[in-house]
Amino acid sequence: MSPRHLLSVLDLSREEMEQVLLDAETFEAIGDREIKKVPALRGRVVVNLFYENSTRTRVSFELAAKRLSADVVNVAVATSSVAKGESLKDTARTLLAMGADAVVLRHPSPGASAMLARWVQASVINAGDGQHEHPTQACLDLYTLHRHFSRLDGLRVGIVGDVAHSRVARSEALALTLMGASPVFVAPPTLLPLGVAVFGCEVSYSLDEVLPTLDAVHMLRLQRERHAGAALLPSEREFVRLYGLDSRRLELMPAHAVVLHAGPMNRGVEITGEVADSGRALIGQQVKAGIGVRAALLYRLLGAQEDAA
Ligand code: CP
Repeated sequence: MSPRHLLSVLDLSREEMEQVLLDAETFEAIGDREIKKVPALRGRVVVNLFYENSTRTRVSFELAAKRLSADVVNVAVATSSVAKGESLKDTARTLLAMGADAVVLRHPSPGASAMLARWVQASVINAGDGQHEHPTQACLDLYTLHRHFSRLDGLRVGIVGDVAHSRVARSEALALTLMGASPVFVAPPTLLPLGVAVFGCEVSYSLDEVLPTLDAVHMLRLQRERHAGAALLPSEREFVRLYGLDSRRLELMPAHAVVLHAGPMNRGVEITGEVADSGRALIGQQVKAGIGVRAALLYRLLGAQEDAA
């Protein structure tokens, strides 16, 4: 049987996403037991192969795989043979020869996980490929919103800031649309992706105008490391003045509206510490959701298939 992959949010239908969110609840609840483990993936091997830094995604994939009793290997790329020039293809084939059933890949190049999926007989999960997509982050954000609102259909969600360089923004817009919600990109023109119209979502340059209309706002990290020296903003101070979420702007939102941030945060840039630490922010819930949601996705790719056979 061909391995199943998760390379993009578009790999999931609405029904499949609903099932992932349901399964995630089950796997999250296991974390509240004394023994936080089930044998669903016993004997399976999951490799975390991260060419870019990560805290949340890497650790939660490790915990998720362990929760399902899989064996987990974390490859420290900086101290692996990648540092001697070994290619992604050869690295992955080496790991496969040692019995990996799934490779969780984070890579700076858009499309890297799709290429890997063509080269190896193992499930590939995109844990972030350049500026392209971060589908598992979008799944856990949907889960967090669903837990809070008990629905996704009809929610209006602002995705604010450095949209152009954000794989989270792309996956989130696709995922929200899939589930019947309405994403709104809010950014200065220089921080919107070329061809933004393909996402089919509303676009605004004014955060103050959009905030009163939202159920949730997802603040994006200003990704200076991907700006490659380009002068995309008059100054960071100007960006903060127009697009930073502070307590004054929080008051512009409806009382029921909540704040998301995928992390890591630049406190004092896209979001103030006061807002991030306020009761309106679901940032801790997003992190917690990562384990259950990633367990549900691993189970879907590696376990559910076996059960169905
Ligand atoms: N949200 C997210 O991808 O965080 P990490 O870079 O810490 O994995």
